[in-house]
Amino acid sequence: MQKAVTTPKLQDAFESHLGQTMDHVTRLEQVFEIIGEKPLAKKCEAMEGLTKEADSIVDETEEGTMTRDAAVIMAAQKVEHYEIATYGGLVQYAELLGYDDAAELLQTTLNEEKETDKSLTVIAENDINWQAEQETDEDE
Ligand SMILES: [Fe+2]
Repeated sequence: MQKAVTTPKLQDAFESHLGQTMDHVTRLEQVFEIIGEKPLAKKCEAMEGLTKEADSIVDETEEGTMTRDAAVIMAAQKVEHYEIATYGGLVQYAELLGYDDAAELLQTTLNEEKETDKSLTVIAENDINWQAEQETDEDE
């Protein structure tokens, strides 16, 4: 997604969240250690669908347009919302099962996902959506 978009602020947001995602993986490994389980790689059908949707958005929009940037933000936010729902549930379960340290790790990741979602909204509202709307006018 980072390579597909034009707006520098948006590219930066994707890059910094990619860095955070590496931390999320490390935290998940720590969580598995805390609960005494081995992490196993498992394909997530929902995430694969969201990724496919993002790819098709890139295919269907023109490079260098704000229309593409706006649409990619929406696709990225769908991913973030899916992650927020998942981490939100995991925090609850960890607390319920008495794994306070695991809950704290998961909560940290949950907070970062929420922050990313918010920052994407700000970028869309301040920099991109209006310009994308202007592009629509040009086409008419
Ligand atoms: Fe995320």
